[in-house]
Amino acid sequence: MNRNLCMIGDVNKHIDETVTIGCWLHNIRSSGKIRFLQLRDGSGFIQGVVVKSEVPEQVWEDTGKLTQESSLYVTGTVREDTRSKGGFELTVTGVEIIQVTSDYPITPKEHGVDFLMDHRHLWIRSPRQRAILVIRAQIIRAIQQFFDERNFHLVDPPILTPSSCEGTTNLFHTKYFDEDAYLTQSGQLYMEAAAMALGRVYSFGPTFRAEKSKTRRHLIEFWMIEPEMAFVTHEENLQVQEQFVSHIVQSVLENCRKELETLERDTTKLEKVVGPFPRITYDEAVKFLQENGHEFAWGEDFGAPHETAIAEKYEKPVFITHYPTEIKAFYMKPDPNRPEVVLCADLIAPEGYGEIIGGSQRIDDPELMEERFQQHELSKEAYQWYLDLRKYGSVPHSGFGLGLERTVAWICGLDHVRETIPFPRLLYRLYP
Ligand code: 4AD
Repeated sequence: MNRNLCMIGDVNKHIDETVTIGCWLHNIRSSGKIRFLQLRDGSGFIQGVVVKSEVPEQVWEDTGKLTQESSLYVTGTVREDTRSKGGFELTVTGVEIIQVTSDYPITPKEHGVDFLMDHRHLWIRSPRQRAILVIRAQIIRAIQQFFDERNFHLVDPPILTPSSCEGTTNLFHTKYFDEDAYLTQSGQLYMEAAAMALGRVYSFGPTFRAEKSKTRRHLIEFWMIEPEMAFVTHEENLQVQEQFVSHIVQSVLENCRKELETLERDTTKLEKVVGPFPRITYDEAVKFLQENGHEFAWGEDFGAPHETAIAEKYEKPVFITHYPTEIKAFYMKPDPNRPEVVLCADLIAPEGYGEIIGGSQRIDDPELMEERFQQHELSKEAYQWYLDLRKYGSVPHSGFGLGLERTVAWICGLDHVRETIPFPRLLYRLYP
């Protein structure tokens, strides 16, 4: 039957009209001869008011049977109501129950994290989890919009790869018929090939790291956005990142006010995220840490506490640039004035959310690339195609990778990345 349903998110277009919504009961409250139904349909929440004296007896009887997460069609008149959260209310005139749910496991009481994670398939129905997923979707929309407006093309690198991009220690191995294959850690090397074909490209896809890290910032499967740009140098690369991150944050502020409110996010902090962003060199960061009680030697990599200490100095994300060549990936271009450091930057989010972007200018000189292959003991055979990029029309080029889930965690103000993705893959968690 075509019911011509109205989405809750669209009721503002139907004030004083009678509409039917397909929905689930989130909660029910009674006050004598009135029942208040908290209804949700994914697009929003609305309160349905059932007044015993004003509805047919069947409607009163049926609404008395409803339990949390029962599914139903509700017909009613849309009223503007400034007291209610969404600004609208439904004066119910009819209901049609699809299913009465019994024993819904997630009740309004507090549950432990493990219990919620085991019930992630249901947990995502809660207002808080819905708000996070809506913001995630908006961030993805903003990302696509940013690149579409700037002459970038979306390119999809492969998921199954014959070799590594970011080092061999955290690769997921699988068989590819008789050959060995790995789940991609980053599409970057392929995106470099794509940039030489299409100029400015970006990818958006899942990446995998078999890291035995159980921190609030690590996922085993996460989504990365990887732009790669021909004829773009280190400095311009940072400018693109600045504009990109500012655009994402401002787009969420514009489009997701209600969701940010549900999450009780302090939006005044996000409002400050407009480029340019502060920059410090690795050397300056080391000096700062040493002067502030951290035991840290030049040449080490920053851990989460170091990143947090540095980020605390700023209200905006901060770039840390020019890391030691030794601790960074083989493909990064050395600073011509100081080859012991590379033309790279990590972007550290404010408020302790850690690194959200890693990027660099890439080596374009064929001889230096060959040298790096020897130093890193990389097989020239496996990467012949990559070396070809330096042989046939090599140009200066740069790119970066933004981790979607860390960005969502920061913008939503979440303690842990596990809530930023519908079905997180964590160390010791592959279910549901
Ligand atoms: O710094 P990473 O490892 O950079 C690369 O993979 C480059 N090839 C990207 C490029 O230049 N095209 O990772 C980039 C970002 C990090 O800043 C972080 O936000 C995210 O990916 N990330 C993770 N997010 C969640 N869980 C993990 N285990 C992550 N590892 C990296």
